[in-house]
Amino acid sequence: MAYETIEVRIEADKVGVITLNRPKQLNALNDQLMNELGAALKAFDADDNIGCMIITGSEKAFAAGADISVMAKYSFADAYKGDFITRNWETIRSIRKPVIAAVSGFALGGGCELAMMCDFIIAADNAKFGQPEIKLGVIPGAGGTQRLPRAVGKSKAMDMCLTARMMDATEAERSGLVSRVVPLDKLMEETLAAAITISGFSQITVMAAKESVNRAFEGTLADGVMFERRLFHSLFATQDQKEGMDAFLNKRPAQFTHQ
Ligand code: CAA
Repeated sequence: MAYETIEVRIEADKVGVITLNRPKQLNALNDQLMNELGAALKAFDADDNIGCMIITGSEKAFAAGADISVMAKYSFADAYKGDFITRNWETIRSIRKPVIAAVSGFALGGGCELAMMCDFIIAADNAKFGQPEIKLGVIPGAGGTQRLPRAVGKSKAMDMCLTARMMDATEAERSGLVSRVVPLDKLMEETLAAAITISGFSQITVMAAKESVNRAFEGTLADGVMFERRLFHSLFATQDQKEGMDAFLNKRPAQFTHQ
């Protein structure tokens, strides 16, 4: 499929890289981009050769939010009846293989929310995160008021959503919003290395780990631990578990077959 607002490539034969590509608008997220992003993610998820995906932007902006020039004209009916956000932003939640956000520059509003929908965020040292929707007379609409407090706690999330201030990469790492901060010129190298590592493991095990960690954000601790326990037990039915443990005991690299 030919895309106009994203660029798609495969690295190391096993990592799907999606680059948001509306540079003049700082990668503002419109319907076309969100539709193309969803289609690209689904295609990579369905490709047995792909073990991990990366979403990235430009040096200046991961994404500066939902496209304000489009939203400015919306009525309540347009937003509600048109199912704005839900209609095409949530595809990423159905993706079963890991998706890493490689963030440089601005990740604001929907850009910050998109990064938080990924499984983890690796940030360049020039990254800036924020939920400035309040300046536009709205609130975050793609999960920001829910995922940000889970990531950084209530006080910082309130601070960000109520004052619209931006958080730099150092603060974002200190607060747990991002997993690592790396120099800008090393962002893709480091993120690709993480993605290649993940792609080298059993796909079944990777998908189970993602599903189980995500469960930590829903329900009770007891339910989550039980969910994890059952998935853990079921992995003993895979050939990859036999291979992984045999390889360790025989001091050789594992050759996973994703079975
Ligand atoms: N939507 C549409 N266009 C945008 C945009 C956005 N979210 N963000 C930036 N642009 C456009 C600007 O209008 C500008 O276009 P022109 O050259 O045609 O004037 C171009 O991108 C470059 O932007 P600036 O000139 O403003 O660049 P800057 O370096 O001076 O500032 C910035 C960068 C601080 C990111 C600033 O652009 C900005 O504040 N952008 C808006 C951020 C924002 O409010 N995001 C939240 C959107 S609401 C949302 O996302 C809702 C939700 O929860 C889903």
